[in-house]
Amino acid sequence: MSPVGGAVGGPAGGAAGGSGLAVLADEAAGCIRCPLSATRTQVVFGVGDPSADLMFVGEAPGRDEDLQGEPFVGRSGRLLDRLVAEEMGVDRSRFYIANVVKCRPPDNRDPTAAEITACRPYLASQLELIAPVVVVSLGNFATRLLLGTDQGITKVRGRSYPVDRFQLVPTYHPAAALRSGGVVVAEMRADLIRAKQLLGWTT
Ligand code: URA
Repeated sequence: MSPVGGAVGGPAGGAAGGSGLAVLADEAAGCIRCPLSATRTQVVFGVGDPSADLMFVGEAPGRDEDLQGEPFVGRSGRLLDRLVAEEMGVDRSRFYIANVVKCRPPDNRDPTAAEITACRPYLASQLELIAPVVVVSLGNFATRLLLGTDQGITKVRGRSYPVDRFQLVPTYHPAAALRSGGVVVAEMRADLIRAKQLLGWTT
């Protein structure tokens, strides 16, 4: 069994690629699987190329994302976009980006284990439908879920891991890079270069 667990049942399971994602996004938009549904403005399902070779997975939407309905549109996202452009030479049209938890936890608290469990079938379905070659996990929550580990990001980053049908490249959450700068940013850059090499991207 995948560390992320099973995909969402129902119509999305049968539809391929982009149309399957659209069906799943529609289903998620009305989701009431956990109490975050009561406090969210909207579900932040994920955006990008539905058949991307590269996928990023973060933790949970923050305030900006909850308002705009798109992952990583605040300060963290701007740093991520810049580092990805500088080290991998691509913008959001070339990858897919989503979070472990699709609704904003109030006051930007950490998502609970129960919220992650309730939401994980959506991520499992996204991974199944997009079928990325490389997944970059951003921070502890995404890394622990996708790697099926309790270890922290500092311990596990610096290499790639085969998971299901993709290679997982764990790296820091961009918020940690914003807080710490220096070494963390340099190591994040190195992780992005590792992802690019695994994809065989030369430009
Ligand atoms: N942090 C995340 O983990 N995800 C977002 O979408 C924004 C900030």
